[in-house]
Amino acid sequence: MSSEPPMKRPRTITSELSFALEPIARWRGKPAPMRQPKEIASFSYDDKRVQHHDDSGLKYYWPPALGQHLGNGFKELVKHDDSVDEHLDSLLAALIHHETTPPVPVSIEEDNTAAEPPKVLPAIDFVTWRGMATKLLCTPFSSDPWSMNAVRLNDTIYIEEHKQPPRPMDERGELFSYMGYKFEALSTLRRPFGEVERKEIEERDKEVVNNIEQYCSIVKTSIGGSRLVLGGEVDCVYDYKPEDGENPSSHYCELKTNKLINTDRDRTSFERYKLLKFWAQSFLLGVPKVIVGYRTNDGILAHIEELDTQKIPSMVKKNNPQGPPWDASAAINFMAGLLEWLKTAIPEGEGMWRMEYAGTGKRVVEVKRVELGGYGFLTEEFVEHVMT
Ligand code: A3P
Ligand code: MG
Ligand code: MG
Repeated sequence: MSSEPPMKRPRTITSELSFALEPIARWRGKPAPMRQPKEIASFSYDDKRVQHHDDSGLKYYWPPALGQHLGNGFKELVKHDDSVDEHLDSLLAALIHHETTPPVPVSIEEDNTAAEPPKVLPAIDFVTWRGMATKLLCTPFSSDPWSMNAVRLNDTIYIEEHKQPPRPMDERGELFSYMGYKFEALSTLRRPFGEVERKEIEERDKEVVNNIEQYCSIVKTSIGGSRLVLGGEVDCVYDYKPEDGENPSSHYCELKTNKLINTDRDRTSFERYKLLKFWAQSFLLGVPKVIVGYRTNDGILAHIEELDTQKIPSMVKKNNPQGPPWDASAAINFMAGLLEWLKTAIPEGEGMWRMEYAGTGKRVVEVKRVELGGYGFLTEEFVEHVMT
């Protein structure tokens, strides 16, 4: 027998694990079973970025007048400070609120006095922002790199963006980004159509645009064998938000801008890059409608098109009989497989893991441990809430 002392376990990073994207053909075929996203809670940020557990930030779609300039008011934009890392804080606060507040009765006849607050998290495998889920879903067909952090608490894995310092944007980039917000401001009302004065509709162009206020919907959904809670910004309701227990998600719509499609090249690029993201983003939150505002090269709103989220994949297939640039079933099956694998790659216990996709080169998602103790980015209040 050797007299050597036993080897000590290393105190730092465990070895890297990887999940291969290739071959993509492996993911094609029938999509993994999914449950229709169902809203469990919603919240709003006001113009000071204060979170309210209500629908005060909900907006109502009302078509904008064509011919307006989407660059109007660019210099007045009241901009959200995106150098601050907000982690999952507001989503976690909304979940604490949801799990500590008794449900509101859906009718006055219903006796709700003894109702217990709903417990959602014990049955959930993943909690994240819809933006992160969109990145995961699009990975097989995207060369955009991503980096995320993950922690596991009570059998639920929480995923946040691994925030990098924001890349400075040139003036043109800032202007195009502004046009997206401006289109949202020109297309929405703060109250239902029946409650607003004509003047308010006609003068939407005069309103100072800000990207601080938001309305967010939190849904419960499932992909393959994984149950998820996703939180994401919703631009507006198409008509109204039901309060009788019907799922509000089916009333939501997403607003997007795009340059007018003039050439085959424009269409190819729109279908390959934009429609993949439009579909993934809205599909994950159960948003059935994407309204696209097309602008001229000068930024004039020229045309509006309403797309059914569900029909986007078949639309892209139909326009590309020689082989579509992406495949919704393959994206869903990849995500189902990746989530299943993450449950084994990220074990229960303290610590934080980094999940990364380089975009080019190695076609793999890599996971490594970056912190040994604690619960990373989870707030103290949230850890306490889950532990008690
Ligand atoms: P468009 O998508 O119409 O260009 P969202 O559509 O997700 O609600 O985002 C609203 C707008 O915010 C976008 O409108 C875009 O202008 C801007 N935006 C979103 N993400 C951005 C990013 N990463 N960089 C710059 N602008 C962004
Ligand atoms: Mg939005
Ligand atoms: Mg939008």
